[in-house]
Amino acid sequence: MKNRISILLLIIFHLSFLTFNLFAQEFSFAAMSDSRGKYNGINEPILSALTEHLITNQTEVDFLFFMGDLVDGSDIYPDSTLAELKYWKKVMSSVYNNSNMVWPYIWPVIGNHEAQHPKDAINFRSLFNDVFMNGPEDEMGLTYSFDYKNVHFVCINSERWYYGDPEDTTDDRRDWHYVKNLDWLINDLQQARARNVNFIFVFSHDVPFPIGGHLHDGLPNLGEDFILPIDSTKQWYVDQRDKFWQILVDFKVSAYLCGHEHIYGRQAIGGVYQIVAGSSGAPLYEFNPTYNAQPDSIMPYGEMSYNDAVPYYKVLKYNYGPGKNSQHSKDFFGLRAFQYVTFHVKEDIIHVQTYGVYPRENTDDEMEGEIGLIDEFIIDK
Ligand SMILES: [Fe+2]
Repeated sequence: MKNRISILLLIIFHLSFLTFNLFAQEFSFAAMSDSRGKYNGINEPILSALTEHLITNQTEVDFLFFMGDLVDGSDIYPDSTLAELKYWKKVMSSVYNNSNMVWPYIWPVIGNHEAQHPKDAINFRSLFNDVFMNGPEDEMGLTYSFDYKNVHFVCINSERWYYGDPEDTTDDRRDWHYVKNLDWLINDLQQARARNVNFIFVFSHDVPFPIGGHLHDGLPNLGEDFILPIDSTKQWYVDQRDKFWQILVDFKVSAYLCGHEHIYGRQAIGGVYQIVAGSSGAPLYEFNPTYNAQPDSIMPYGEMSYNDAVPYYKVLKYNYGPGKNSQHSKDFFGLRAFQYVTFHVKEDIIHVQTYGVYPRENTDDEMEGEIGLIDEFIIDK
């Protein structure tokens, strides 16, 4: 009898240990992007409303990723950009002081608005220095990765300027809109898979498959007024984007998160989710123009017409034409809303919930109504 009780206790102990271990791997995180606006370079009312909603309602969230374009920035006054970024940290103080969350509270990624001057990257790195210094040598502190519980996270810089003499402002070497260090990424993901991580997430500012507003300068930097045939420089950007995405597919990355386009959209491409969580205050864009009875019609906010977009669609291999959605995947889902996204990591699935709010009529940078759940889906392992 005594033996039976001992065996029973042992089984209960093992079961509870197993349950605890499974439960211990579960956690939540959040992501948002693009908060620039007219209050010291920030859309403070909307950014504050979203972060307040996040910390009040999502108390299980351990940290937040922010995928760039925090502020307007300046291409001639780096001190002004730095002052805006300092103010951004102040606006986000409720996140930085949130006792439910863990160090460093916010994992930042640089956006093109924080890379407009040779001194910008240095300033950004000095202000957001609570990151891992394990990136490629020329992007140390801007590109980095880490594991949390059984998940691997990679933050990648896609906007850079000049790594030489920061005093030499005559050398205009804007170097935006591509992922440079693909070998570093492959090595990083190989090591993560060797550690048997359960899921991998990748974050950057730029959008590999543009959904609205940046067809001309997502990760495939095709430029404005693009016409066919494509030249070798533009083809290089497309090839670099394709190589980057293939790496994510090969290593079974669960999702790639970005901003740059001030709108919300998700689509699975080759089994990897691209999630654009592109406005926590920045002026909302429209989706890619779709075919209609008047393909030459002018889009609101100065965005390109359908006919102007067709050469981009051809090169990017999009679903375009009558009845098509002008996106890469026919299963695309998107909303013109300000938002943040939460990820609830379980043993075998990720439960994604997006909270957002719609713009006031005829505005693109003011909100109306309550923040609520606007999208929900599951990412399988
Ligand atoms: Fe951007």
